[in-house]
Amino acid sequence: MTSTAQASQPGAGAAQPDHLEHVIFITAAAAMGGFLFGYDSAVINGVVEAIRDRYDIGSAALAQVIAIALIGCAVGAATAGRIADRIGRIRCMQIAAVLFTVSAIGSALPFTLWDLAFWRVVGGFAIGMASVIGPAYIAEVAPPAYRGRLGSFQQAAIVVGIAVSQLVNWGLLNAAGGDQRGELMGLEAWQVMLGVMVVPAVLYGLLSFAIPESPRFLISVGKHARARRILEEVEGKGVDLDARVIEIETAMHSEEKPSFKDLLGGSFFFKPIVWIGIGLSVFQQFVGINVAFYYSSTLWQSVGVDPTDSFFYSFTTSIINIIGTVIAMIFVDRVGRKPLALIGSVGMVIGLALEAWAFSFDLVDGKLPETQGWVALIAAHVFVLFFALSWGVVVWVFLGEMFPSRFRAAALGVAAAAQWIANWAITASFPSLAEWNLSGTYVIYTLFAALSIPFVLKFVKETKGKALEEMG
Ligand code: GLC
Repeated sequence: MTSTAQASQPGAGAAQPDHLEHVIFITAAAAMGGFLFGYDSAVINGVVEAIRDRYDIGSAALAQVIAIALIGCAVGAATAGRIADRIGRIRCMQIAAVLFTVSAIGSALPFTLWDLAFWRVVGGFAIGMASVIGPAYIAEVAPPAYRGRLGSFQQAAIVVGIAVSQLVNWGLLNAAGGDQRGELMGLEAWQVMLGVMVVPAVLYGLLSFAIPESPRFLISVGKHARARRILEEVEGKGVDLDARVIEIETAMHSEEKPSFKDLLGGSFFFKPIVWIGIGLSVFQQFVGINVAFYYSSTLWQSVGVDPTDSFFYSFTTSIINIIGTVIAMIFVDRVGRKPLALIGSVGMVIGLALEAWAFSFDLVDGKLPETQGWVALIAAHVFVLFFALSWGVVVWVFLGEMFPSRFRAAALGVAAAAQWIANWAITASFPSLAEWNLSGTYVIYTLFAALSIPFVLKFVKETKGKALEEMG
């Protein structure tokens, strides 16, 4: 097996440039799942107020409709590994693409609120699958020397997906005269916002036909000849194919997979490393990052920013998110995961505390006082920047590499499912918490950001430069 140190340094076994281009294409195609993950989970931001208005529902019910998709995500994440092991990675992507497509159509044309909730759960299941299958497939096809960098395509695709959804929402809102329920192409604007997702979903499905099955899966089902062809395609002609096949087979047979009973409270859950993975996931969500992406329009409107401007600020937040992600991709292998996480936590505490301060002022004529309004806006961007350059990328990198090979896939599924449940808890509770006290809500997120510092210092081990078999 290859160490992470080797993986980040092109050297022996590195692909030829022409192979590398091909592998980048394969990785980018697989990362379309990440794009849909980002797009689908953030698109809701532009439709929240229209749903509240059209179905005449209160904050708590609205939050459930939005958050219910996240339960679908948790179930999708928890089952994706099993599906992919049984029918293959590519088939799994194709199922996700079909689910993304039908969910986009169903959510755009709902008859009742229940239909909408149902189709959002279906889309959520697809997002959950994409959140596990993307990183797993990319790791399996990436040549060892480039695995680290190619692996970070997934988070990059997620943040680009979020930004594109904000931009599309903003454009459609303007086209509909600034009203989420305004008419557009014979529908209401919010329906078009949800329906547009058909385009990347179909593209994802088509691209999945253009990329090869994972050689690791093929070897596991005894299709050695095809696996060898694909290994040569992605790793280059200089590779000793016999040695690679034996290496993969040996690694697979030495992996003692936890049984279903183990996953449900047996010895698996006594392993501290599994809890550290769950802890990383929970902290990543409990700082309230997705409030910034799913509810930013509502948030800005509630403190007096007008609807069109609030969409603009959602977009600038996404641009900051992309910039932070690029910074993290540059530094994750240089300074290491732990220092980045700690720097990020400190920056997030500052941003969140300033937001809590700004929101503690009473609104004057439905707006925050001018100074506090600016502080709130800048602090929100500071918070997102520090999240993006740290916990956004680092947690997915950690989850991909921190577990011992024996139960890596199972532990990744559990930690990803925990992340979706934590995301759901924050998303479902935000509207009620904000109605109770917006400043107080931000104090809670600040506390979680602060607690993440001792958690990382005490429990998280640096993985930079360690061989994968040294983990655990
Ligand atoms: C990470 C989180 C996800 C969040 C995104 C924001 O991928 O897992 O929940 O929406 O970062 O960039």
